Amino acid sequence: MFKKVGFAGLSMILLMVLAACGTSEGASEEQETLVMGTSADFPPFESFTPEGEFEGFDIDLAHKIADELGYELEIKDMKFDGLIGALQSDRVDFVMAGMSATDQRKQNVDFSTEYHHSGEMFITNKNSEIHSLEDLEGKTVGVQLGTIQQEGAEKLQEEYNFELKTINQASTLIQELKTGRIDVGYMDKSVAEGYIEEQGLTGFDDPTTVAPGMAVAFPKDSELQADVSEVIEQFLEDGTIAELEEKWELDE
Ligand code: ARG
Repeated sequence: MFKKVGFAGLSMILLMVLAACGTSEGASEEQETLVMGTSADFPPFESFTPEGEFEGFDIDLAHKIADELGYELEIKDMKFDGLIGALQSDRVDFVMAGMSATDQRKQNVDFSTEYHHSGEMFITNKNSEIHSLEDLEGKTVGVQLGTIQQEGAEKLQEEYNFELKTINQASTLIQELKTGRIDVGYMDKSVAEGYIEEQGLTGFDDPTTVAPGMAVAFPKDSELQADVSEVIEQFLEDGTIAELEEKWELDE
């Protein structure tokens, strides 16, 4: 008797499990939206138009990738420093934010094939007397929180003895520079060049840069990674990425 109940119970559980599988499969077939996290303070990769729409190289590329794979795309703006956490807690399916595919980040997230490479630069006001790493002594250098520049500056600091200020937003960093609250900004060259031109600033290349290329980031073991990498490789080959680089005036 007991055995019989047990068997009935088991069959019930089995049925429920099967039903649950059926539902979740159905749901994932309907749910064709990919959620992307970004930090829209980083032109020409991602920023807002005056109307509050996302725009930039990463935004265009993300739309093209989603189209190619047959998904809708939803974009969420977050602090750059929170993007890895958003991936780890599965709040987003992937991140595109001019994010450099560093070994350190690879411990926590997976990366696609790299789609763009940028050097790094120090930006200053036009009349600044800072032209080299040696000139940084005693000055205040600003970096965006959670970036490779924060990590890089912490290393350079030992040798060149400057103050470091971490700032949440890349756009705020430029404001701080213009208003003299920092003497130097340290950021990706592909972004610095735009600010230099647009805001009448100047700067010099970081001679020590070893930044890896930028790539799409995923939660560890995401099944999307291989598909997205394949599309990126195709876009590198067929000129789609070169076209976007031209549109957004990215060289390198
Ligand atoms: N490439 C640098 C990094 O990966 C900076 C990226 C900052 N991106 C942004 N959207 N603010 O750390």
